[in-house]
Amino acid sequence: MTRSLAELGRRLGALALLVAVAGCSGRQSALSPAGEDAAWLRDLWIVMLVGAVLLWTALNGMFYFVTRIRPRDWPERYANRLIIGGGVIFPTVLVGTLLAYGLSMMPHMRADGNGLVVKVRAEEWWWRVEYWPAGATAPIVTANEIRLPTGQRTELLLDANKYIHSFWIPALGGKMDMFPGRETRMTLRPETPGVYRGQCAEFCGPSHALMAFEAVILTPEDFTGWLEAEAAPALPPATPEAQRGEALFRDEGCGACHAVRGTDFEGLVGPDLTHLASRESLGAGIMEVTRDDLVNWIAHTGDIKPAVAMPAYDWLEGPQLADLAAYLEGLK
Ligand code: CUA
Repeated sequence: MTRSLAELGRRLGALALLVAVAGCSGRQSALSPAGEDAAWLRDLWIVMLVGAVLLWTALNGMFYFVTRIRPRDWPERYANRLIIGGGVIFPTVLVGTLLAYGLSMMPHMRADGNGLVVKVRAEEWWWRVEYWPAGATAPIVTANEIRLPTGQRTELLLDANKYIHSFWIPALGGKMDMFPGRETRMTLRPETPGVYRGQCAEFCGPSHALMAFEAVILTPEDFTGWLEAEAAPALPPATPEAQRGEALFRDEGCGACHAVRGTDFEGLVGPDLTHLASRESLGAGIMEVTRDDLVNWIAHTGDIKPAVAMPAYDWLEGPQLADLAAYLEGLK
């Protein structure tokens, strides 16, 4: 009985370890760095872990030694040495070294950016994103996706609309809180092109867990090309169904909340949709930009994302929803 319990414990332990290790890789992992800042943090984590393991092993080793290996009355001078050496000097040196090592990284992470500035505002459960290239007088506005070039330090200016959120792309760097009415800043220097995942890291309400985004890292040439395309106005609807969808977008008043640059839809409440279909995800990192997901989202917003501001357009018929989705799918 005892043996089978121990066996069960071992198997459960192995399973838990597998699950834990599986979480250490992938596009939302602080231990798979794709940028300079995340690499520093990974190194800091490893050094802290090694320090903690050494301390734990030394402490428990001494305990084992005096209770099992040499259990006897130790002279008082040994006890005093242990208290001074093990209780004062050793922890002071170890923790002091770890602190100095950790603090030595902070100036790098607070370093100035060198060119692009990206402003991100946390909204109720999505991200408003503005790109300010050097010398720009007006921003290029988008939403729910951050694109950054490799090899340069981009400055991120962060705030929030109503609640406190936290901006975090684990593969690129540390997290930074976002407050209403107060701007915080961080800089990031991505190094490996790819698509990574960001996530709100501060509980902010019913859809906190559904407040994600994609972080797309591009080479500087690809980034410049993308930013130019992003600055361009929207493509006009190209098919009859997309044209019907645009008319429906107008009739249903979608343009009161959403902007589509190059049209008279100029709403500022919700995400800018000018190039929605060129984004990696829909609904702030929770769905794909496909016909099915667009239809599903428009008809069931509140079911999919609790407390979202956009009402569900559940009175629209299937073909109308398909037309709307066709219009949005053409916004590349
Ligand atoms: Cu926004 Cu949690």
